Amino acid sequence: MTKSGKNAFSHSLVDLCVYPKITNITLNIGADKLKDLECIRNIIDDCDKKLVEVLERRLKAVLDVSENKKRHKLPIYQPEREENVLKKVNSYLKYGEFSHELELLYQRILKISKKLQSKYLFPFNIVLIGFMGSGKTSVGTELSTLLQMDYIDTDDIITENSGMSINEIFSAYGETRFRNLETKAIESLQDFRNTIISCGGGVVLNPKNVDLLKNNGRIVWLKVSPKEVYNRLSGDDNRPLLKDNFTMEKLSQILEDRLPLYENAGDIIIDTDGKNVQEIAKEIVEGLLDY
Ligand code: S3P
Repeated sequence: MTKSGKNAFSHSLVDLCVYPKITNITLNIGADKLKDLECIRNIIDDCDKKLVEVLERRLKAVLDVSENKKRHKLPIYQPEREENVLKKVNSYLKYGEFSHELELLYQRILKISKKLQSKYLFPFNIVLIGFMGSGKTSVGTELSTLLQMDYIDTDDIITENSGMSINEIFSAYGETRFRNLETKAIESLQDFRNTIISCGGGVVLNPKNVDLLKNNGRIVWLKVSPKEVYNRLSGDDNRPLLKDNFTMEKLSQILEDRLPLYENAGDIIIDTDGKNVQEIAKEIVEGLLDY
């Protein structure tokens, strides 16, 4: 029922048709039905034309908002604004029957608007580097939702292309072969833009990888302490470099050796200890806008 108590479907759209109706005397029933369908489709075509005009205006306004927020250094993400938009558009409905469809449509529109905003603000890749257990995957996933940007993990590219797990590659072919596959995976991303790329912890070992990643991306180093890595990775045997010797000494040693490489590669450095993924993602967005 509508808000005024009327059923949305109680009148036919055909009644609204503007073309002169030909009587059944001169037209057989089939042809008349076809005319009716054509008429309703004309109404839909007219709605689409208006919708496209309005959507174009809306998308342009989204770009203006993005530019304005960037210029005045205003917060980029305000979830409460999205909730307000959903509430407002629902209150504009004449026919209550469509509130579910409108909500679905608007959820999509809001996602597309966010994606457009990110394309404007971050026309480069956001590359996450950092030691094993620094939170690249969880932070990357969070950023991907927050910014509606695509997310790619270099380890996933390697396992998909080879059909083997990282552990299997290490034990069958050794680390050198894995590092070559890692560089190949990074090379395959050269045409990517506006994508979140999470890299394996050892990506900084080869300066060529860092150069390639910098070509089209800003590098974010997720800094983490050995203690935090130890806590996060205890009981996880998916890291071949630590699998047979998971000790504080071992991981501290690898981390210490790599620190200057991470430091050198990172355009933005985020201290992750004691922070949750939402806090880290927010810091990354702010850091990138200031960069
Ligand atoms: C490695 C880190 C791993 C994976 C491989 C080697 C490293 O990725 O690429 O086990 O050398 O630090 P994560 O950092 O995602 O665990």
